[in-house]
Amino acid sequence: MDIRFDIIQEYAPYFLKGTLLTIGLSIAGVLIGTVLGLLIGLGKLIRHKLLSLPFKIYITVFRGTPLFVQIFIVHFGIVPAVLGTTNGIATGIVALSLNSAAYVAEIFRGGIQSIDKGQMEAARSLGMTHSASMRHVILPQAFKRSIPPLCNEFIVLVKDSSLLAAVAVPEVMYWGKAMQGQYYRVWEPYLTAALIYLVLTLVLSGLLHLLERRLSTD
Ligand code: ARG
Repeated sequence: MDIRFDIIQEYAPYFLKGTLLTIGLSIAGVLIGTVLGLLIGLGKLIRHKLLSLPFKIYITVFRGTPLFVQIFIVHFGIVPAVLGTTNGIATGIVALSLNSAAYVAEIFRGGIQSIDKGQMEAARSLGMTHSASMRHVILPQAFKRSIPPLCNEFIVLVKDSSLLAAVAVPEVMYWGKAMQGQYYRVWEPYLTAALIYLVLTLVLSGLLHLLERRLSTD
C-alpha cells in the first residue's frame, strides 16, 4: 500500500476548512439542541397527559428515525421551504440541532428524575412553589449531572455530522469524498478523514474526563 502524501498535502487546506466547519456545526448543534432539549425534556415531564404528548412524539420521532433521513428531509424540504433555496450550512445546523434536542431532552429528563424526591419535598415544605423548587433546587443539580452526557452528545454529533457530506455540506467527510472523486484513491482520503475525527473525539473525551473529575465532588 503506497500512500501518496502529495495529494494529502494538496487537500490539507480543504480538510482544515472542513474540520472547522465540522466543529462549528457540532457546537451549534449541541448548543441549540441543549436549549431545545431542556424545553422538550421539561415538556415531557408535564403531568397532564395531553400537554406532554407533543413532546413525547417529538422525542419518539427524532430518535426513532435515522439522522441520515432527517438530513435529507431538512435539506430538500424544510430549508428550501423557509429560505427559498437549499443551504448546506443551514441544513447542518437545523438537522443536528433538531436531532440532538431529542437526545438531550432524554438526558435532562433522566437528570431531573435522578434527583432524590426528598429535594422537592424539602423545597416545598419551605414554602417554595413547585416551579420555584424546580428552578432553584432541582434544575441546578440536574444540570450538573447532565453535563457529562451532554459532552458525550457533542462527541456523537462530531462523528455523525459526517452524514452531512451526502448533501454536499463541505465538512471533513465531504472533502474526503471530493479527494476520492478526483484521484480515485481510497486510503488517502478516508484515512485522513478518519484520523481527523479520531483526533477530535480523543481531544473531546480528554476534556470530558477532566470535567468529570472536577464535578465528581458532587
Ligand atoms: N446514529 C443515530 C441515527 O442515525 C444517532 C444520531 C444522532 N445521535 C445523537 N445522540 N444525537 O439516528
